[in-house]
Amino acid sequence: MFDEKLYREFLATENFGRNILVFDETDSTTARLLDSETPYYTVASAESQTAGRGRSGRRWVSESGVNLYFSVNLPPMKIEDLLAFNIAIGFAVCDVLREYADVNLKWPNDIMAGGKKLGGILFETAISGSVMDKVILGIGINVNMTEFPPEINEIAASLKTETGRTFSREEILARLMNGFESFSDLFFKGRINIVEEWKKYSASLDKKIALHKNGVKTVFTEKGITPSGFLIAEDERGVKTEIVTGDIGYDFSG
Ligand code: BTN
Repeated sequence: MFDEKLYREFLATENFGRNILVFDETDSTTARLLDSETPYYTVASAESQTAGRGRSGRRWVSESGVNLYFSVNLPPMKIEDLLAFNIAIGFAVCDVLREYADVNLKWPNDIMAGGKKLGGILFETAISGSVMDKVILGIGINVNMTEFPPEINEIAASLKTETGRTFSREEILARLMNGFESFSDLFFKGRINIVEEWKKYSASLDKKIALHKNGVKTVFTEKGITPSGFLIAEDERGVKTEIVTGDIGYDFSG
């Protein structure tokens, strides 16, 4: 069971995660926050999710009691800041997890370790007209999981599979809240240069990546990101393209 007292011992924020909702089981922590009125910076965390949501409509495997599945209700922000903020949150996640393992990012928001996926970040918004009503940051991190369903066994990792150690989920969640508060403050003061910072966090900078779109695979070299957070991909002739769409997937391509 999630130990809230232990979580609070590591929490050093003014706002992020001070209000916490812990579910033994829920459909999706993001759905819970989208459906309810909670103060900004409330974190909803679940021991397990029955309908965990991943990117592109995929299911997020949410085995009980071993990992972190949580969402944070954030104040509305400009739509054009969302991707860059998403990337800055990835930096905060990496900084915290790098205390435990060698993690990096696969654009736009996969958390990787040893070339495998250890976690993911997914923002969901509720928009009425041109006004953003809600911004929910959802994160899943494989912490102590050691056995994965066959369909992701080859591509998934956890902190435990990477290090052989067992970790306190409460400590990690609190440290993430601490990191999010500082990164978010810096981000909205314009003090995070995501283009420069990306170089410290990317899993594939200057490496070959295979982009998949509509069933077609093309090999590029990753050349960083733009100030808005788009991926810069260079083809074999040296022509650079900005990858904007969230539907595009890529593999490491040797
Ligand atoms: C991805 O596909 O990489 C993003 C996965 C995000 C999963 C998290 S788990 C907590 C929150 N609740 C959800 O239903 N999804 C996010």
